[in-house]
Amino acid sequence: MRTVSHILVAVAAFSISGVVAQNYDVSSSAPGYAIKGKVHKTRSGLEIPLELNDGDGVDLYGKTIRDLVVNVDFETADRLHVKIGDKDEKQIPVPDHAYGLERPKTRKPAKKLNYDFKYTENPFGFQVIRKVDKEVIFDTSDYPLVFEDQYLELSTAVPNDANLYGIGEVTAPFRRNNEQNVTTVFARDAGTPFYENIYGAHPYYNEIRKGKAHGVFLLNAHGMDVFFSEGRVTYKVIGGVLEFYFFVPKDGKPNSVLEKYTDLVGKPFMPAMWMLGWHHCRYGFKNISHVNWAVDGYAKANIPLETIWVDIDYMDHMKDFTFDEINFPEESMVALSEKMHANNQRMITMVDPALSNNDSYLPYEHGKEMDVFMKNSDGSEYIGQVWPGFTVFPDWWHPNVTEYWDYWIIDWMKKLDLDGLWIDMNEPASFCLGSCGDGKANTDPPLQWELPEEDQIRIHAEEEAALKARGVSIPGDDRNLLYPNYAINSGGGNLSERTAPMTSLHHGGISHYDYHNLYGHAECSLTRNSLLKYKPDERPFILTRSSFSGSGQYVGHWTGDNHSSWAKLKNSIAEIFNFQMFGIAYSGADVCGFFDNATETLCTRWMEIGAFYPFARNHNTLVASHQEPFLWERTAEASRRALAVRYALLPYYYTLFEEAHRVGTGVWRPLIFAHPEVDAFLDNDVQTLVGTDILLTPVVEENATSVEGQFPEGIWYDWYTYESHVSTSPEEKVTLEAEMEHIPVHIRGGAILPLKTPAYLVKDTYASPYTLLVALDQDGEAEGRLYIDDQHSVQQPATSDITFSYKRGVLRAKGKFDYADAEKVGTIKIVGADDLTTASYNGKKFDLESKDGAIVLEGADIELTCGFTVKFR
Ligand code: GLC
Repeated sequence: MRTVSHILVAVAAFSISGVVAQNYDVSSSAPGYAIKGKVHKTRSGLEIPLELNDGDGVDLYGKTIRDLVVNVDFETADRLHVKIGDKDEKQIPVPDHAYGLERPKTRKPAKKLNYDFKYTENPFGFQVIRKVDKEVIFDTSDYPLVFEDQYLELSTAVPNDANLYGIGEVTAPFRRNNEQNVTTVFARDAGTPFYENIYGAHPYYNEIRKGKAHGVFLLNAHGMDVFFSEGRVTYKVIGGVLEFYFFVPKDGKPNSVLEKYTDLVGKPFMPAMWMLGWHHCRYGFKNISHVNWAVDGYAKANIPLETIWVDIDYMDHMKDFTFDEINFPEESMVALSEKMHANNQRMITMVDPALSNNDSYLPYEHGKEMDVFMKNSDGSEYIGQVWPGFTVFPDWWHPNVTEYWDYWIIDWMKKLDLDGLWIDMNEPASFCLGSCGDGKANTDPPLQWELPEEDQIRIHAEEEAALKARGVSIPGDDRNLLYPNYAINSGGGNLSERTAPMTSLHHGGISHYDYHNLYGHAECSLTRNSLLKYKPDERPFILTRSSFSGSGQYVGHWTGDNHSSWAKLKNSIAEIFNFQMFGIAYSGADVCGFFDNATETLCTRWMEIGAFYPFARNHNTLVASHQEPFLWERTAEASRRALAVRYALLPYYYTLFEEAHRVGTGVWRPLIFAHPEVDAFLDNDVQTLVGTDILLTPVVEENATSVEGQFPEGIWYDWYTYESHVSTSPEEKVTLEAEMEHIPVHIRGGAILPLKTPAYLVKDTYASPYTLLVALDQDGEAEGRLYIDDQHSVQQPATSDITFSYKRGVLRAKGKFDYADAEKVGTIKIVGADDLTTASYNGKKFDLESKDGAIVLEGADIELTCGFTVKFR
């Protein structure tokens, strides 16, 4: 197998460094549009005809479209839909489909709207007004609308130094201040350079204004730049229509905004319990013994490991669905899977979308026969290059592709009895600039970035020439798809850099230009369906790199190729916050970093916070040195300690995931989303709330042995000692001790947490009786929730949904108790009370013990089959 010692270089190879924003104000001379004719009332709102005004400043970057229609739908009390489209409907919107976004059908306007919609006649502009405080949250009236075939521009006024969160995927601080004022949305295989567009496309932001939140979603899958500048947000989009959704819940809570957003795009999928365990991966396992070494290393060091991942290393020449017969023979992979399952552990492998076009490779032959691969503009097969050499790419929109993909995915799952799939390189990544040329096959071309620079330049020029030779547009489509006049600020420069040519074709004559940002999303949807066909009642596990708005209903996401650096450790938190906001609750970053070598200190600190990521996995690249947590004593100790907290919290995490799945709220929550009224939290993107009740204050600075944290008002108890901290001012920075193996974790006073006794495996952890940890607030009260089901099935005939409350010495459990096999409550711990000595439950009396800072009722033996009351004195 070829050694691939390149990746680092690859990232920089053809990307411009930093982002140079294009001329901002080119549109100020545009004539704008005016209402022409009658504004109609429709079933769900308004239809407003627009016509271009006379004047210069047209055809700025494309062909101006004269006649537009604005559809305004008052869809729900909190959701407004404003679509500005071309009257002739030639522009290509996001398809109304599982591979795009299934739009809800609105039959009549909602009543009691929490927003007002106003518009001006000439020039046409509109405002969205938050009713509760009459705040104008979106206002286009001062900026001319530009609507051209390949250039749409719309701006809204926002306050100076607005509090904007979102628009991605990007590696950047959570609050998007104005320092780097452009964020490009264009799926791109790039190893996470700060501020540049990377893998996924999420044209969605939340704004917090005057302590209240609202959300703005531009449903458009074309490349775009979004400028956040003083007093203004501007969208510059290279195609499609301007289809906005505004989310304005009455209570102005960020969580309510997420609820409304995910009502539209889809709720995060519900993971199985095992998925919440610890995962380990590495690119560059040399052979199967090497993988076994890692699995055994975890066990010897007693660091929990739930799932082992095998990257492309197992493949024969990196071809999907094959085995490297020397280093990873099929029997050895089957044996690994059997061993994992025998130990109640799991196994996942990588599957990339690009398939070798070697004609003795069955998946290629089969796909060719079924005609399922992407085409060039002249109908020939589009050939790119990925790990196996020259490749073809499934066209997820082809009617035969479902059958094709199901066949290979199910066959693969069965072969290894896999627990899930990792789908990568689905931006889609391809190492040529657009096409690698025609007729290329059956060879293992060198990776360009490994060649001398002159060769790279030459090959690049050849690729560019080959691309242009076919024409910059598709016959019958007069847009310039390869070199649109408005060049978005993609870090890759050329749109077709490291991906399919913008002129390549999907089924139905749709150009890649129009669907590029949906490619990964479509694969997510399709792969989930394949897994559901394989095991209809098992919750599918899929982890994707590329995503679009709504992908979270199908898959989880990791933030891609980060670096073993302190900056990336810190920023991983903001990135996960973003994905919570984008509706992909099950997300995480490569713990200890992908590129470069992790040090013991870095990996220790990273394991500490990584143990709490919604999706928690250590992963790195083949040229980087090993970073298994058992390799360093301090890292091992920190991992055991932090993972013990995560595993103790599994019922709490699972309950939060159920809430995310039902409601759409994130599992990880930034303090500002929990307390939008506290300005001091606006920029805090390091401290993390898990749900509402656990506050993490990780160390993300080298050599630090303490860390500063802020606390929302109220009592916060140290997880380990139950020592209390009473916060009266969230502005205050509190110094917390954080020796190397220690991550500060606090429990919110007022919370009741369902806990388990941590064990090596999720299953064994879960087999233990529950402990209810009652952490009292200043009034001596607390509340909590516990959701129980069978932990893995799609259909749940009987679940329990229990609310706990503690008031005046009485602990009550109420709710639904339909799940029959729940473990009992063994222990109740009360934190924050020191005067309790006895308890009674069901006619039995218990003496309470004061132990390690809590008052403890041991041996409670309470069944979770019906409500109960325990009285404390
Ligand atoms: C990509 C992925 C990375 C993986 C590698 C090899 O770089 O982002 O996670 O290890 O490909 O498959």
